[in-house]
Amino acid sequence: MTREGTLDWLRRYESRNVTWLPQDEGWPIVWERARGMRVRDAAGKSYLDFTAAFGVAGAGHAPPEVVRAGQLQMETLLHAMGDVHPHAGKARLARQLSRLTFERWECGEGKTVFCNSGFEAVEAAMKSACQLTGRDRIVVFRDAYHGLGYGALVATDRDHFRGRFGAQVGNFAHPIDFPERREEFAESAEALGAALATGQFGGVLTEPIQGRGGMKVPPLGFLALLREQCDRYGAALILDEIYTGFGRTGNWFACDHEAVVPDFLCVGKALTGGFPLSACVGKQQAMDAAWPPSEGEAIHTSTFLGHPVGCAMALAQLELLERDRLPERSASQGDYFRRLLHKTFAPARERVRVRGRGLMIGVECRDPSGGPETRRVGSLVRSLLSEGYIVLPDGEFGNVIGLTPPLVVTREEIEAFTAVLGRLYFEGGDQ
Ligand SMILES: Cc1ncc(COP(=O)(O)O)c(C=O)c1O
Repeated sequence: MTREGTLDWLRRYESRNVTWLPQDEGWPIVWERARGMRVRDAAGKSYLDFTAAFGVAGAGHAPPEVVRAGQLQMETLLHAMGDVHPHAGKARLARQLSRLTFERWECGEGKTVFCNSGFEAVEAAMKSACQLTGRDRIVVFRDAYHGLGYGALVATDRDHFRGRFGAQVGNFAHPIDFPERREEFAESAEALGAALATGQFGGVLTEPIQGRGGMKVPPLGFLALLREQCDRYGAALILDEIYTGFGRTGNWFACDHEAVVPDFLCVGKALTGGFPLSACVGKQQAMDAAWPPSEGEAIHTSTFLGHPVGCAMALAQLELLERDRLPERSASQGDYFRRLLHKTFAPARERVRVRGRGLMIGVECRDPSGGPETRRVGSLVRSLLSEGYIVLPDGEFGNVIGLTPPLVVTREEIEAFTAVLGRLYFEGGDQ
């Protein structure tokens, strides 16, 4: 099928709010194949994917080991019965997630609730925190993104997503500012303490680095502050590592940078490398205190819970991340990438801010008066696409170029990309 044919059918048969289909020759491209860093479109043109497709292709697109594991699983058992008659893969993956999280953190074992999309893992974690504490409310952060289900939407702070549903979604979340600078700590700590002191809050939910909010990195010490306040007021700490997890920030999890252990950890995206499977992993005591043993009908479950193909792929993906030491690679490639970006944008340092950790990087563009350069970033993203690089705009104003390539990205690819980005930016002049 040609690109035009695909777009035409989408225009006719898909809800018009899903795929953005401007009357434009270049956007979107139609993906046909993807391997490693490379994506090929329906016209046969090749691209380097600097998004890892929303961070999913952590070990690159379609690693052969992961594909084979999925294929083998499909041939033997395509579907089982989530919370009723299980399959071995679900047990193996729950064991492996425990090993990579609470056991590695030397905090006993972990227990998992499997889910499908990322937002469901967040909802499972919020339910767990409230069940655990017997309290109804959750502290969340401004500009956070936790997904768009009716539950997660309470914690996702962007009017674009929530505005239309404001009258319907619950109001059990209390937002406070996400600190970007150490000076903002005191204020966040005070707001957090004041909220928690009311005794209404069962949990504090945050992304360790705000991804879709614009790759915002809080100063080191932020997670420790949350941990300390949660302990003081008896609330659960929920870390949404759906984006930051599995090596993205140069460690297995972003909370490893501060040696902070959450009560509940949400994971998804790169867990399987390409199958919709997510999980809420909780500290064993917290999970057991939150949920009673099943008496036949689970209180929280779904048809596809712990899907066999997703579990098989996740087991292969985790093995690959570990075998090829991809979290370490993310740290070194990320440092190199940021150094190069800093150097490239040094002449525009008043207007371009490069930030990130590991291979989770944002390039924020501002105009001379400090306003967000949304149009410039939009046109850079399109120009990069026509030059063969896939990137996305991030942040509330879409003025941050989000860079989250597969962790297998090479230095040559980073150099070539940065040279093109720099050329396009400076060619654009003073917009
Ligand atoms: C931090 C974070 N949490 C949750 C989600 C929602 O995941 P999903 O789109 O799989 O529901 C995302 C998606 O980008 C995310 O970045």
